[in-house]
Amino acid sequence: MRGFGKYYRKTWEERLAILRDTFYLDDNDIAEIEHVSGNGEIGDTMVENFITQFEIPEGLGLNYVVNGKEYLVPMVTEEPSVIAAASNGARLVKAGGGFNAEVKSRLMLGQIVIENITDVDELVRKIKADQEHLLKVANDAHPSIVRRGGGARWLRTRILANDLLSVDLAVDVQEAMGANMLNTMLEAVANEIQCTYHQDVLMSIMSNYATESLVTTKARIPVSELAKENISGEEVALKIQQASRLAQLDPYRATTNNKGIMNGVDAVTIASGNDWRAIEAGSHAYAARDGQYKGLSQWYFEDGILIGELTLPLPVGSVGGSIKIVPLVKINHKLFKAKDAKELSMIIASVGLGQNLAALYALVTDGIQRGHMRLQLKSLAVSVGAKQDEISKLVNLLEKNKKRDSASARELLEKLRREEL
Ligand code: MEV
Repeated sequence: MRGFGKYYRKTWEERLAILRDTFYLDDNDIAEIEHVSGNGEIGDTMVENFITQFEIPEGLGLNYVVNGKEYLVPMVTEEPSVIAAASNGARLVKAGGGFNAEVKSRLMLGQIVIENITDVDELVRKIKADQEHLLKVANDAHPSIVRRGGGARWLRTRILANDLLSVDLAVDVQEAMGANMLNTMLEAVANEIQCTYHQDVLMSIMSNYATESLVTTKARIPVSELAKENISGEEVALKIQQASRLAQLDPYRATTNNKGIMNGVDAVTIASGNDWRAIEAGSHAYAARDGQYKGLSQWYFEDGILIGELTLPLPVGSVGGSIKIVPLVKINHKLFKAKDAKELSMIIASVGLGQNLAALYALVTDGIQRGHMRLQLKSLAVSVGAKQDEISKLVNLLEKNKKRDSASARELLEKLRREEL
C-alpha cells in the first residue's frame, strides 16, 4: 500500500499525515485521533505503528467485600450493563457476608517440548535424575528473582507421544506476571537439554494453562435477599441452582455462562494492566479440563442459603508489563488497594462470581432485557447522535415507544429537536 512502507520508522505526526494524504481519514478524524492520543507519548513506546489510544469506558464495581475487606473495583468495558450487574451481584453477596476467596498456589508454568525422541522412557529417567541441576540452570538464568525469594520450584515430564515429551517448569515469579522471566529460564533449560542430552527441542514457552495459579471464591446468599415481586427467594435460588446444572450439562449454555463470568473478569483484568487474553485462554481451557466444556461456576441451594463457587486460573501480576507504564493502570492499582498479586486475583475471581450471579438472577426472573433496558436505550440514544442533554429525554421516549430500533430512535430524536415531543 503506497505511503505505508516502513511506517514504524515514521514519527507519530508523519503517520497521521499519511492517513490524511491517502484519504483514509479527514481533518475531523485526525483531530479526534490527536485528541485522545496523549501526543503519542506512551503508545508509541508500547506498540508498533502507533496512531492513537483506543478509548473504552472505565467505571467502578461497588459493594465488593472479599475476605472481610471492602474494595472499589475499577472495571474497563464497552458493554453497558456489565458494571451495573457486577455491583448488583456483589450487593447480594455482601448481604451474606461477602466473598470468601483463597489462592491455593501461585506458580507460573512453562514447557520445553523435546521432539524426535528415540527412547522416551530413558529420557524421562535422565531428566528426573537431573532435576536439581536443571532447576539450578533455570535459576542461574534469572538470579534476581531468586534474590527476591522466588525462582524455579519444580520440574515434571509429560509424555505426549513416543517421540514427543514436554518438560514443564514451575516458577515462583513473586509479584510479576512473569512471562519474560519464565521464557528466559525455559530457554536456558532447553539449551542445557540440547547440549547435555543431545535432544532436539521443538520449542520452549510459558503455558497460559495456569493450573498452578488457581483462585477459588465462594459466596453465600440468604434466600430472603433473592425474593422478587412474584417469586419467593427459595424459588429463585432453586432456579439459579438449575441454571448452574444446565451450564454443567450443555456446552452451548456453558459458553454463554462463562462469557458472562469473563465480562467481569476481563473488565477488571484490563483495568489492572494484566494480560486478559492469557486469562481468557486459561479460563476456557480450565472449563474443559475433564474433556467437556462446562460452566466455570457452581451454584446450589442448601438450608436456606444459595451457595456459589468459582475457581479460575488467574496468573495476574501486580508489577511489570504495562502496570508501570500506563498512568491509568497505576491509578487503578491505587483504587484496588490490593497489597499483592494474590489479593488482586481474589478480587478478580469474586467479580467473576458476582457477575455470574447477577446474570443468572436476571435470567431466571425478569429475563435479561428488562434490567438492562435503560442502559441499552442509553447506548442506542448515543449511537443515533443524541447529545448529553438529549440522552435521558430520548431514553424516556424510547421506553414508552413500541419500536426500539435505530430508525425509530433517529425519528424520535428529530422530533425532539423540532420540539414536536
Ligand atoms: C451478556 O454479556 C452475558 C450473559 O449472556 C451471561 C449469561 O447468560 O449468563 C447475560
